Amino acid sequence: MRIVLLGPPGAGKGTQAIMLADKKGFLHLSTGDILRENVKNGTFIGKKAKAFMDNGELVPDDIVIEMMLDTIKNARSQEDFILDGFPRTVYQANNLDRELNKLKLPIDMVVYFKTSIKTVILRLTGRRLCSRCGASYHITNMPPKKQGVCDKCGSELYQRKDDSEETIKKRLEVYDSQTKELIDYYKTQGILKEVSGDLEAPKVYSELSEILNTCEADDRNKVRK
Ligand code: AP5
Ligand code: MG
Repeated sequence: MRIVLLGPPGAGKGTQAIMLADKKGFLHLSTGDILRENVKNGTFIGKKAKAFMDNGELVPDDIVIEMMLDTIKNARSQEDFILDGFPRTVYQANNLDRELNKLKLPIDMVVYFKTSIKTVILRLTGRRLCSRCGASYHITNMPPKKQGVCDKCGSELYQRKDDSEETIKKRLEVYDSQTKELIDYYKTQGILKEVSGDLEAPKVYSELSEILNTCEADDRNKVRK
């Protein structure tokens, strides 16, 4: 099953994608993580993307589309994956649809994380990440056992550069002007589902699991018919 997670910055897309990958074996492809890895390694893509990311703007479509389509084509599984943070513009979505249709592996489901502005600001300003293994925490919602230290590998936690209040504001504006229209794009295709992004992470996960189970059951029924 191919799933797209859609929603504003801080809606919990990454958190839920990691849970789905752990519990159901999906491959998790996060555009933001792949771009940050490129920035860290000083690649050609990383050098082009850095300033846009630091300013909370979208990296130009052509760079991201090529990077993500290559990632999908080279992935260990092209049948079951979660796209987290891609597509983010209608142009990206059109390109993704075209390429996946060629492979006869279209997107099955898009999950929209309906989340309030108040929630996303609180989540992003409090997010901390492990500098080594990338595990994600929140200073109050999901705190590590020891402040500033990763539970999993003991390394230091840091705050993402684009999680400053000013850049968060910019990212939310960009979401409103360039990404939000994807809700209608996928609604028109009849594959949009919705979860309540404001809920606690385990509750969001149970909504997500229920949607997945229903879709899998529908698929089985289609095969039987
Ligand atoms: P990206 O890394 O994708 O950032 P984003 O969309 O802004 O989303 P976030 O990762 O900030 O939030 P999330 O929804 O994953 O939330 P999380 O689970 O971490 O992109 C970064 C940049 O890369 C972009 O600005 C752009 O420049 C570029 N880029 C990426 N994709 C692009 C594309 N397609 N085109 C062009 N440019 C692109 O949760 C947030 C916090 O809340 C965490 O601390 C977590 O612990 C906590 N939390 C999560 N869920 C809950 C919950 N249910 N209850 C309580 N706390 C929770
Ligand atoms: Mg994320």
